Amino acid sequence: TRTQVAIVGAGPAGLLLSHLLHRAGIESIVIDHRGYEEIAGTIRAGILEAGSVRLLVNSGVSDRVLREGHRHDGVVLRFDGENHRIDFQELVGESVWLYPQTEVFLDLSARRAADGGDVRYGVADTVVDLAGRLPTMTFTEPGGGRVRVEADLLVGADGSRSICRHAFPRGARDEWFREYPFAWFGFLTEAPPSHDELIYTRSDFGFALISQRTATTQRMYFQCDPGERPQDWDDDRIWTEMRKRVNGNGFELQEGPIGAKTVLPFRSFVTAPMRHDTLLLAGDAAHTVPPTGAKGLNLALADVAVLSEVIADFYRTGDADVLDRYTARALERVWRAQHFSYWVTTLLHTVGGESPFDARRRRGELSMITGSRYGAAYFAEAYTGWQTT
Ligand code: DHB
Repeated sequence: TRTQVAIVGAGPAGLLLSHLLHRAGIESIVIDHRGYEEIAGTIRAGILEAGSVRLLVNSGVSDRVLREGHRHDGVVLRFDGENHRIDFQELVGESVWLYPQTEVFLDLSARRAADGGDVRYGVADTVVDLAGRLPTMTFTEPGGGRVRVEADLLVGADGSRSICRHAFPRGARDEWFREYPFAWFGFLTEAPPSHDELIYTRSDFGFALISQRTATTQRMYFQCDPGERPQDWDDDRIWTEMRKRVNGNGFELQEGPIGAKTVLPFRSFVTAPMRHDTLLLAGDAAHTVPPTGAKGLNLALADVAVLSEVIADFYRTGDADVLDRYTARALERVWRAQHFSYWVTTLLHTVGGESPFDARRRRGELSMITGSRYGAAYFAEAYTGWQTT
């Protein structure tokens, strides 16, 4: 089979790219080793930046986020047992939307299907090959047939364990990463919201995040050891831990039965360049951020907005050199998000052995965000998303 752009990965990055290319008159084939149900059923991120919402709505993916998502005009930072609200609208005139990644996936998948897009879920044994005149991706369809796709360009939107990243020749890219001595324990609970906005809490017992999903289902996380196992935590143990970290001074969690539980790893990672010859990387395949600050999904969507423009320029001009603009344009935002995710992570999590000086210095840092208009605006601009690229 022949197509213009072969895309590995049918998560938000791969599907949005396929959609934006379609709008530019460029055809693509998207594959994923996961089945549709598996992708739709995996709990992922929950917060969309203002620009991500505009991208999804204005490019015609769906306006469901505006109807069924929840606009949040601020967020709460809680420390020393007190809530400090950051008012996004007042500070930077923007909002974020609570709209789960699973819903973004459903919208993108439905839009691609309605536009006749070629998206194949549940494929196996994918191999990408850059050696020939044209790059190829070869895979086994759920029915068992082996398919070989030749394309002008190959895009790896295949997540943090990307196979496409490893198709770069040795020495063709650099990597930077950082690890953290903790993880998040994430869970869903059947309960009403504990607050009308998200609460990011720093306590002596560690970080906790109170997020939401629906009127009757809430999403929460607490800092844990990376070696924790979900099955070792029953409902009582989880709520006892959460209460220690967030209850007090008139605030009390709304508790309920606990559903899905997972331990999320923490890692900061960037590889560059994001292009080698006819192969381009987007989203988690090129960079991962720790979850604090909700930048991962938004970065993936921002990558793809730039990538679709660059690919359209390539077809308009016939000049492969324009593809090189992708890395520099995408990385500007990637490193801002790396900084923000690292910064809010280290600010709000606890590590053993912090010196008395560092503890007081960090308290000063928190006060600069919540007690200064400019500090608060710096946080608000980053959280709602920089107006660049
Ligand atoms: C959610 C996840 C995040 O990492 C975050 O910073 C905010 C919200 C969530 O899943 O709802």
